Amino acid sequence: MTNSFTNASAKDAGAAWLGGEFAGKLVVGNWKMNGLATDAKALVQALVAQGAGDKSLAPQGQGQGQSDVQLAICPPFTLLNPVRQWLGAAPLWLGAQDCHAEEKGAFTGNISAAMLRDAGCQLCILGHSERRQAGESSPQIAEKLAAALRHQLIPILCIGETLAERQAGQTLAVLAEQLASSLPFPLEGSGNSGGGATPAPIVLAYEPVWAIGTGLSATLDQIAEVHQFLRQQTAALGHVPLLYGGSVKASNAAEIMALGDVDGVLVGGASLNAEDFGQIAVAASTVLAGRSVSTAAA
Ligand code: 13P
Repeated sequence: MTNSFTNASAKDAGAAWLGGEFAGKLVVGNWKMNGLATDAKALVQALVAQGAGDKSLAPQGQGQGQSDVQLAICPPFTLLNPVRQWLGAAPLWLGAQDCHAEEKGAFTGNISAAMLRDAGCQLCILGHSERRQAGESSPQIAEKLAAALRHQLIPILCIGETLAERQAGQTLAVLAEQLASSLPFPLEGSGNSGGGATPAPIVLAYEPVWAIGTGLSATLDQIAEVHQFLRQQTAALGHVPLLYGGSVKASNAAEIMALGDVDGVLVGGASLNAEDFGQIAVAASTVLAGRSVSTAAA
């Protein structure tokens, strides 16, 4: 099998991030409950055709992984296997949108982390606000996160405040509580994926509920404040990549990803359009290239 992303070790990638080496940008498309085979195939083929995820997106052509743009798409369960095949050798990562906490058994309608790994996933979104709003609790999410880690899936843990919570000045308190109670290990730094010394590779996505699907992104100041806070909160876990999600589009992706503590974006609606998603990937690359230039000039 020549497919590079099925051979890629998510655990290794996560370890690289957590080793403090991750200086790239992670751009993840969450397709949510969208996609029938015909349209999805056209979307994936368009992404591949425009070079999404290939090394041409990498600034200065490094192609070293840790300092590149890494793209990932998270289609619905039904499309994981065909998307993997349509991607061919394109180095995009494949992710799911949820998993069950148990290994297997009488859980009608659910999908285990082992099944996702078996289907070629590297990532799994967990705790999305659309699932929290449907009744999923932080302790349940913590169990799912542990299951994902057991099967070498990198969890993208989503947290975010509602508009009412923001207006009441509770944003950081809400985020701190959601983060601490959605992890299966303490934030103080003893987290690991099964007894080893390496902290668990996780990605954290800040998605303000009021910015999701509304076209109204959080302001740069709001994002910067929250990401700085989350960087402090996760400091003992190593370098946890921090994504922003909520009405990210081609027109605002670069300024968001240029913020110091934003390691990438989690994109909903705009990831369903190959051109838009491709432009967001290019924005990530441009930001990285700009950073390299200013670092070199300093
Ligand atoms: P939108 O980009 O459509 O606002 O969705 C964001 C999101 O929920 C990604 O997980």
